[in-house]
Amino acid sequence: MTTRHLLTLMDLSKKELNQIINRAKELKEIKNRGEIFEPLKNRVLGMIFEKSSTRTRVSFEAGMIQLGGGAIFLSPKDTQLGRGEPIEDTAKVLSSMLDCIMIRTFSHDMVETLAAHSTVPVINGLTDFAHPCQVLADMQTYSEHRGNISGKIVSWVGDGNNMCNSYIIAAEQFDFNLKIACPEGYGPNHHLLDEHKERISLCSTPAEAAENSDLIVTDVWASMGQEEEQRQREIAFKDYQVTKEIMSIANKNAVFMHCLPAHRGEEVSAEVIDGEQSIVWDEAENRLHAQKALLEFLITGNQ
Ligand code: CP
Ligand code: NVA
Repeated sequence: MTTRHLLTLMDLSKKELNQIINRAKELKEIKNRGEIFEPLKNRVLGMIFEKSSTRTRVSFEAGMIQLGGGAIFLSPKDTQLGRGEPIEDTAKVLSSMLDCIMIRTFSHDMVETLAAHSTVPVINGLTDFAHPCQVLADMQTYSEHRGNISGKIVSWVGDGNNMCNSYIIAAEQFDFNLKIACPEGYGPNHHLLDEHKERISLCSTPAEAAENSDLIVTDVWASMGQEEEQRQREIAFKDYQVTKEIMSIANKNAVFMHCLPAHRGEEVSAEVIDGEQSIVWDEAENRLHAQKALLEFLITGNQ
């Protein structure tokens, strides 16, 4: 049997993605009822983090424990990866001991190499190119609040970063239309735009992107690894804040999402992220439930 991975949302079929989201909702109910459910007893997840994390680390580690297994945090600083051991060799060794590997790093190519040499599932916990686990949780969250996202209009405001790229792929996989407003020179991946152009409209302002929108999403102006560009980005992005005015242009029952961490007063105003249309706390919590469903799917092959 071929080993399945989640490097981008294209690695799962539309049917599988919907199954995982339905399962995430079931696992959330099981947990909320206080039931013990341990399909991953004795299974171990290795978690390689080359970048910081609160939600990703805690949700994967807590998720594995709740499913009866365990997780090991691996920092390149303390492993031989940081001293130059090849990723191919690391993949072979880790897959002989673990049941699944999660990695958060800079280069997407490195994650592809890891997966190519791993005999256990590899999950992308964020690269410079994509953040599929977050968008899986976002899809669960939208569906819990507003029902099926299929046929809806989603607006991306801000940086054309890893989250924006993952929303482009999600538009294809979950069947919605995506309006994107990024400052010039900060747009998303060109290949993705070409590949999924039927699903995408590029807009010149956040206001234009917000028209007829059912969901407005944004993210930080400077992602991890771009800290030195912060000042320059503050100038380039100054008109790309999701404000109350932008939310008022969208459909009346539109919701607001942000993967967090957020910078109030930069990409989003405090009154929007802390306001009634914001569903960011459910979105963050759903990382746990969506990833538990993903781990169960990848590790046990349950479909
Ligand atoms: N949204 C997200 O991935 O958060 P962390 O960086 O805290 O993991
Ligand atoms: N785009 C952000 C997401 C953080 C979860 C980053 O890559 O830093």
